[in-house]
Amino acid sequence: MFRIIFFMQKKIAVLAGDGIGPEVMREAIKVLDKIAVIFDHKFLYNEELVGGAAYDVYGEHLPQKTLDACSDCDAILFGSVGGPVDKQTEKKWQGVEKNALLGLRKKFNLYANLRPIYLYKPLIELSVLKNNIVENGVDVMILRELTGGIYFGEHKTYMDNGEEVAIDIMSYKESEIRRIIKLAVEIAEKRNKKITVVDKANVLDCSLLWRKITKEFAQKNKNVDFEFMYVDNAAMQLMKNPNYFDVLLTENMFGDILSDLGSVISGSLGMAPSASLNDKNFGLFEPIGGSAQDIAGINIANPIAQILSAALMLKYSFSMIKEGEAIENAVINVLEKGIRTGDIYREGLRKVRTMEMGDYIAEAIVRDH
Ligand code: IPM
Ligand code: MG
Repeated sequence: MFRIIFFMQKKIAVLAGDGIGPEVMREAIKVLDKIAVIFDHKFLYNEELVGGAAYDVYGEHLPQKTLDACSDCDAILFGSVGGPVDKQTEKKWQGVEKNALLGLRKKFNLYANLRPIYLYKPLIELSVLKNNIVENGVDVMILRELTGGIYFGEHKTYMDNGEEVAIDIMSYKESEIRRIIKLAVEIAEKRNKKITVVDKANVLDCSLLWRKITKEFAQKNKNVDFEFMYVDNAAMQLMKNPNYFDVLLTENMFGDILSDLGSVISGSLGMAPSASLNDKNFGLFEPIGGSAQDIAGINIANPIAQILSAALMLKYSFSMIKEGEAIENAVINVLEKGIRTGDIYREGLRKVRTMEMGDYIAEAIVRDH
């Protein structure tokens, strides 16, 4: 029997960044290397600096060299950026998250941010929500618009009548709304076929435009259910009954807030991955939790969010669906065996360090078809 050597070769820009970034990234690479062996792929890693780590060498958070490496690759695997809480005022750390992340989002047009809220069954007791709400696990896809809205509108501060005034403008173009709803429909079709558009249409013109365009899509896509919900109510529903939602679609800032709220449902920030995509399926894949400087460098961070971000990269940027699922299944397998980093540990289970968790997950990867 013939077996083709290397089904695919992919170049990955690896931006580990600050804090726990480098140590959790190491484990994600370990897992990707295992995927490459088992599925006959080849992954080439191009490691570059970002955040405070880049500032030390280049005096900026997102140097041109890093951008060039990203342009030259098929996807970006991102760790985290950010400094210690007590050093925020140092030049090295000032504006680091904004400079690095917003810069990359803008440069590569990463308008679609997928933040799956997933509670694995073995972690149910760790969820901030009561057991009776989450007893069957949670599976919600938050889809956040990422390159429009108030984040990228005009920001300014000026003097008026002897006092300072600040303004930030929220704006959306039809085309920006259309492309993300189109993606929401594609995602919903592969899930439970329901989209909840979260907005503030009782106050904002932007929300009214979102509603108008959503209704056009609803006319054309009868196989998917569309509904609207105000953002304040959505925050409440997400806590009362998260599984009410299937795909939760929303604009940039509402998505920022709701996705942090949603992430605590998963039991630990160390479990939550994300994907930011453009219309060519190029993307940046990163854990939602930050650089966690307080536990950096001591091999206790949970690498699962970084590993699951690599799984999203395989699925969304490389169309390697079964490879991505192989990682997700390996994670479930390891959690079921009671292997836990400190953040998801409970008495009676086996507490492991960052590197061991990576080893166990890499070992648990199997190819079943
Ligand atoms: C996120 C972060 C960023 C955002 C910050 C660091 C600019 O909170 O990715 O959610 O607000 O988008
Ligand atoms: Mg955020």
